[in-house]
Amino acid sequence: MKPVRIGLLGCGTVGGGVVQLLHENARYLASRVGAELSIARVLVRAPERERVPQLSRALLTTDPELLFNDSSIDLFVEVIGGVDPARAYVERALDQGRSVVTANKMLLALHGPALVDRAIARGADLAFEGSVGGGIPIVRTLREALASDWVVSLRGIINGTCNYILSRMSLEGSTFEAALAEAQELGYAEAEPSLDVDGHDAAHKLVVLAMLAFGARVSIGSVPVEGIRRIQPIDHQFAARFGFAIKHLAIGRDHGGAVELRVHPALVRRESVLANVSGVLNAIALEGRALGPCLLSGRGAGDLPTAVSVVADIVDVARARLHGTAGLDTRAIQLQARPVQPLEDLVCRSYLRFPVRDRPGVLARIAGALGECGVSIEQMVQQGSSSSETPVQIVLLTHAARERDVTRALLLLRDADFAVQPALRIRVDE
Ligand code: HSE
Repeated sequence: MKPVRIGLLGCGTVGGGVVQLLHENARYLASRVGAELSIARVLVRAPERERVPQLSRALLTTDPELLFNDSSIDLFVEVIGGVDPARAYVERALDQGRSVVTANKMLLALHGPALVDRAIARGADLAFEGSVGGGIPIVRTLREALASDWVVSLRGIINGTCNYILSRMSLEGSTFEAALAEAQELGYAEAEPSLDVDGHDAAHKLVVLAMLAFGARVSIGSVPVEGIRRIQPIDHQFAARFGFAIKHLAIGRDHGGAVELRVHPALVRRESVLANVSGVLNAIALEGRALGPCLLSGRGAGDLPTAVSVVADIVDVARARLHGTAGLDTRAIQLQARPVQPLEDLVCRSYLRFPVRDRPGVLARIAGALGECGVSIEQMVQQGSSSSETPVQIVLLTHAARERDVTRALLLLRDADFAVQPALRIRVDE
């Protein structure tokens, strides 16, 4: 059988891992596919850069035409990341009827449904296991293993950088800045760290998961997103006192018409499985109507874990091409435009920390504003000494309350003369 020829678009961290795994497992992969997998050409921006030793320099080019005009290329693998020029390349490959494997969560979150439509129209495949959860087979699980089930909800730790930072803060008392610097040194963080720490990377991944779990076509702009910049080591201590850990979560729930999608830090019960997923690990907890609960956890970032997912997609796509079933897997992704439930309708408990000047009447004013908005207090702690220069911390756990009421109470207190900084609010995920 003729080899299956791959056009590799980009060869950075993940691309290097793909080259390495294709090389190391060549014989076994050929036996799985029924033909050898061969890299035909590699599009890069900087050919002089050092690459993995398994990659022949003769394959490198900076000219995309050499790949798109080469009709012997059977499938494309896009590991450039970002929207431009990746989107144009993926569209061009699909328009040529050639299947695409991509690990590009941002591209899928912004243009995924249109790309799926395009692939279906051209009888090609669009495979994207590497876009969420690195090496965790979450896309396959949703697309194939749960084909006969209905996913009711999912809760995931899907940004390794946030999880690493929060874990370091909680276990070592590190500051946010020190923990972020460590994550960057270890190569977990995106080139632009705000994608990680402000929650956008997790939001991109959640939109991809919502496509598969709920068949939802949503606009990324309608997903409420919060990052972890304002969390301090002291919040982990207070959370632990109340019996919780702080995690950065992506949450999705199918409400029939609307879907609930949100990304934010959350207090999770200390004994829950997600509370115990530490460091750079990712985890996704699913709830299937027939299956019940299911947890997938593993390495959500890094060259080789993500490359494992990309190569698994290459095997599937190459096999489908050889068997004349290209496009079948992609046709199974059925998407419908769904509204995202407004966050202000959410009802949950909240953790509130007020850094304040310790004066008579402060507690009464905080309790008064909350009471006026119908938010009831469940527990309260005050820490700090009025004699010191530093503010005291008043920390509350509220009973379940509507988002819009908590927001209104915090607004009433925002400019109070006793407030040293605006209050920090973290939702509780029960
Ligand atoms: N920056 C991402 C993370 C890498 O921290 O999870 C994988 O998408």
